[in-house]
Amino acid sequence: SVPQIQNVLTHALRLKNISQKFLMPAKPQKISQKLHREAPPQSLSHASIALLFSKRSTRTRVSAETASVLLGGRALFLGREDIQLGVNESARDTARVLGGMCQGIFARVGEHSEIEELAEHSPVPVINALSSLWHPTQILADLLTLHEEKSFQAAPGENVGGALATLAPLKPLTITYLGDSTNVLHDMLVAFPRMGHKMQVATPNDPQYQCPAPVWARVKELGCDANIMWTEDPRKAVQGADVVITDTWISMGQEAEKEQRLKAFQGYQVTEALCREGAAKKDWKFLHCLPRKKDEVDDEVFYGPRSLVFPEADNRKWTIMALFDMIFGHWELYDPKK
Ligand code: CP
Ligand code: NVA
Repeated sequence: SVPQIQNVLTHALRLKNISQKFLMPAKPQKISQKLHREAPPQSLSHASIALLFSKRSTRTRVSAETASVLLGGRALFLGREDIQLGVNESARDTARVLGGMCQGIFARVGEHSEIEELAEHSPVPVINALSSLWHPTQILADLLTLHEEKSFQAAPGENVGGALATLAPLKPLTITYLGDSTNVLHDMLVAFPRMGHKMQVATPNDPQYQCPAPVWARVKELGCDANIMWTEDPRKAVQGADVVITDTWISMGQEAEKEQRLKAFQGYQVTEALCREGAAKKDWKFLHCLPRKKDEVDDEVFYGPRSLVFPEADNRKWTIMALFDMIFGHWELYDPKK
């Protein structure tokens, strides 16, 4: 729900401030002073978190491992080649066994049904670290980055050091997404409109690259479709944009379709020229979940002053840390329905 998202973001900002001061104080400190610094909560003290990853990951994995250290716990990276799952053992049995030994499961899977099966049979909470349909932890980082950026703009000259003391409200934004209808976009579709933001999406006019039926059903169920404009024209989609977002055209597992995809997405690359011709706002900003290829965004935008991609990547850690603290650290208090 929207209040839950706000709670996670507020908590992430708090943990970011505490952890950064704790790990990197403004000036060198003696060990005795170190002991008096405010430490991050140790809610995972003596706890183990299973990172069940059947696909590659840099940001999500490292966020989870480093966040677990800060919270006093330990993350166990269990890659596809490491455990019995999929070869000798079912998801059901794996969920029960991991849940009997660990205090949480963070899982990156292929088909979305796999994460549902894990969640159904696990005695401990399961968080989705990416599935074929959804990538919920990514948009938490995107939102935190936008809160920081927009508030920084609201007070020019004020040195907020890249992190705010409190979560500043975000004015309603026009958020454009160009390219493939991926797991990353899908979580934006069900979250951003409910937070008052307008979404303008451009994908090729081919059912293969448009929103899958179960995702669109959820979008409609939540009433988000009223605030989403969908077109095949990328210029139309960037009109009035405050933020332009894209994702890879070739998601993990789609490598064999590379040639056909590169052809289908011609014209959807995010460039200065496209956003100028389509009349995006003058100060539009750029987000990308990473990893990035040059196909979907050129170097000028990606490494330019509009790009927020690296603060966005950093914020994966603080938002995942907030989720781990709130859900795995205090799951006896956590009510997923609230
Ligand atoms: N954005 C993201 O999920 O990156 P990784 O695949 O590197 O975890
Ligand atoms: N859509 C991409 C996101 C990677 C973080 C994929 O699924 O590969």
